[in-house]
Amino acid sequence: MNYSVVYATSTGNTKLLADNVAEALGKDCTYIGQPDEKSKEADVIFIGFWTDKGNCNEEIKKFISELENKKVFLFGSAGAGSEDYLNMVINNVKGELDGSCEVVGEFMCQGKMQQGVKARYEHMLEEKPGDEQILSLIKNFEEALNHPNEDDLTRLKNKVKEVVGK
Ligand SMILES: Cc1cc2nc3c(=O)[nH]c(=O)nc-3n(C[C@H](O)[C@H](O)[C@H](O)COP(=O)(O)O)c2cc1C
Repeated sequence: MNYSVVYATSTGNTKLLADNVAEALGKDCTYIGQPDEKSKEADVIFIGFWTDKGNCNEEIKKFISELENKKVFLFGSAGAGSEDYLNMVINNVKGELDGSCEVVGEFMCQGKMQQGVKARYEHMLEEKPGDEQILSLIKNFEEALNHPNEDDLTRLKNKVKEVVGK
């Protein structure tokens, strides 16, 4: 069996996940990088995305929508951390896949966001002091700064190894 790791990243969180997937796959990983035709030849394609508007980012959306009869393992990072939200995102991403593809594994975790996001929340809070919803967004932002962490990476590597039987 051989494997490819295809991913997109804008600030490095998903790259970190992808590097750890490749590490778990070891020498059977024959490709790691951006979406590319040659990555499609692998027995299983590990596909990493960052979350954009509750789905995978556009580049990955285009890549996965072109796949047919492939085994895929989906992994991604999102700014939001609640389990329900992460499940919703991964289900949206699965919805982009052709029905002939098989999802052999999946993983989502939180990923730190840019400081500009916090500045925007703080500005919103100035307009609405004490607003519970905005305060919870700021709390989520602070929590996201700790991710992906060692625990996330260990859980990811374990899932990968489970799927490939290592
Ligand atoms: C334009 C933009 C849109 C985003 N949309 C969402 C979103 O809908 N939901 C979410 O949870 N995080 C969202 N995020 C946060 C990123 O998905 C998150 O920080 C991710 O870990 C970034 O991964 P990367 O470092 O690999 O680029 C968004 C970030 C950007 C820049």
